Amino acid sequence: MMMRKVIYYFTGTGNSLRAAKKIAERLGDTELISMRNPPEEVSAKEYDVIGFIYPVYHWTMPEPVVQFVEKLSMNKNAYVFVVTMPSFVNGHASEKLEEILKKKEIMISYGAKVNGVANYVIVYSPMPSPKWVVPRTERKISKIAEEIANRKVKKIPRASAYIRKKYPKVMPSYKVLQVYADIPFTVSKACISCGLCSRVCPVENISIVDGKPTFLHHCAQCMACVCYCPKRAIGYKISKEDMEQLNDIAENVSVIKLMGLPDKRTLYHNPYITAADLTKNHFVIEKNQRN
Ligand SMILES: Cc1cc2nc3c(=O)[nH]c(=O)nc-3n(C[C@H](O)[C@H](O)[C@H](O)COP(=O)(O)O)c2cc1C
Ligand code: SF4
Ligand code: SF4
Repeated sequence: MMMRKVIYYFTGTGNSLRAAKKIAERLGDTELISMRNPPEEVSAKEYDVIGFIYPVYHWTMPEPVVQFVEKLSMNKNAYVFVVTMPSFVNGHASEKLEEILKKKEIMISYGAKVNGVANYVIVYSPMPSPKWVVPRTERKISKIAEEIANRKVKKIPRASAYIRKKYPKVMPSYKVLQVYADIPFTVSKACISCGLCSRVCPVENISIVDGKPTFLHHCAQCMACVCYCPKRAIGYKISKEDMEQLNDIAENVSVIKLMGLPDKRTLYHNPYITAADLTKNHFVIEKNQRN
């Protein structure tokens, strides 16, 4: 009997989609479904292998991923795997999935994380250098794909005692900040009104009004619009008024002071993932490739 396989992915700068594609290629005959889709319109009930792949935001699972998985219907007998894509700190990102799935009486069979390029470009330059991190992540993903293809059972990564202790004090206000932190986005004269930023946004937070992007205040801070704009027209500049507004919203979150996008900063997106890939909601990977 043929196994039905699906991977649900969320991505801003392509690292997670690249991992999802590579794993799907190894598994063969696998659907890739973006968590951009409303969960009510997809169902994982008919699948025997179900994967989740997403970045880590503020030491946990991105909020759009939480919203999606909570509403997703699942097959209780499936082999379920999770691959998280942090840069340095995975924190609660895998455990959060476990917590949501437990309520649906579903166990995760396999968990892994892949440290990749840190993409929060409105706070820092991408790091460590993609030149050596990307090849390393490619190798790690191949290894993980092999393990999943062989239905290996592996415990999910867990937050360290330090992260567990610090999280409640440090991180909850970032969740609030994240939603409204599109207030300081700027659009320069270089904008050619192509609308690509609106199409790559995974949460429909950009509307094109009179040819220019307008941000709708439910941003996930995924960095797709900034990093895939063909003209580098999207910037990030916090004025005094924006700073006051952000501080009111998020109670003096320290990272606000670091936020900004200098013209000279290098941007990043995964070299294997194009803007066109990000505009898709669904892929079917047919071939089975050994990496
Ligand atoms: C808003 C935001 C918060 C982030 N927080 C973390 C974090 O807590 N820990 C971490 O290791 N990486 C963090 N990162 C880095 C991303 O998780 C990492 O670059 C990831 O590979 C990006 O995946 P993507 O290319 O699929 O979007 C953060 C990035 C953004 C944009
Ligand atoms: S992607 Fe860039 S150039 Fe195109 S509409 Fe958006 S900001 Fe303008
Ligand atoms: S507005 Fe830009 S940064 Fe915010 S979620 Fe959309 S693409 Fe990502």
